[in-house]
Amino acid sequence: MVESVLALLSGGPRLVDPATPVVRADDLGLARGESVFETMRVAGGRPAFLSLHLDRLARSAERVAIALPGGWEGLARFAVDAYAEQDGVLRLTCTKGAPGAEPVGFALVTPVPPTTLHARQHGVSAVTLQLGVPAALRADAPWLLGGVKSTSYAVNMASLRAAEDQGAQDAIWISSDGVVLEAPTATVAWVADGRLVTPPAEQVGTLPGTTAAVALALSSVPVETRLGTVDELRGADEVMLLSSVRGVAPVIRLDGVDLGIGPVTAALRAAYEEAVLHG
Ligand SMILES: Cc1ncc(COP(=O)(O)O)c(C=O)c1O
Repeated sequence: MVESVLALLSGGPRLVDPATPVVRADDLGLARGESVFETMRVAGGRPAFLSLHLDRLARSAERVAIALPGGWEGLARFAVDAYAEQDGVLRLTCTKGAPGAEPVGFALVTPVPPTTLHARQHGVSAVTLQLGVPAALRADAPWLLGGVKSTSYAVNMASLRAAEDQGAQDAIWISSDGVVLEAPTATVAWVADGRLVTPPAEQVGTLPGTTAAVALALSSVPVETRLGTVDELRGADEVMLLSSVRGVAPVIRLDGVDLGIGPVTAALRAAYEEAVLHG
């Protein structure tokens, strides 16, 4: 079995046993969900697109009022260097800490789950689910923390369970006014009229994806960042989910309709996999 690696930011970076408890019971990250995190691919023994993730970590921390300590790049590289495998998942977490105490930072490197590899290669089935808010709301109400990668992911996980209850592997959130938003752990993109379309994160309050930023620049067809309706999504030629560890995952079935793996998705997946090794 591949050994996971846990490295702490404070007093280090330093390695500890991966089973070590690292947060206090009164840490606000635990008690109130006030923690921020980043998950990225380890490829060829390096953390892929680390600077994009570190920039987003800093932006998330600011929105959750966490005084982010320094040293994250060193921590990330230190943890990945201590990991025996070339490929894995690196998760960086910073909790707000206990009241009056310092934030707590750590890096965990683990193997890529087999289900993730399967989804990348063979695709996923997905269903659309209501998020229950109008598309513009999260951008207009910053306290809803749209676009922030905090550990308050209980709604995201519940959405995945709701999708599973419907026999699917993933979900795509739709606003109450019928606009496509994102998936619980991925950016959504689709192919319509020969163009690759993805929703504008800042307009709909979704997480600005690092994978989308890298992959869409490699697209073989023109890219459009604009709002799209659920009807447009259901009528799309191809649909894909973009996220750091899965990469470009084809949506092979949407709301019960088979889509398969289209040529634009396949080409983008190949280009992204190449870029991951150098990014
Ligand atoms: C809600 C949400 N949207 C989008 C993404 C995709 O972000 P990235 O491509 O940086 O992994 C994620 C990643 O976990 C996510 O949780």
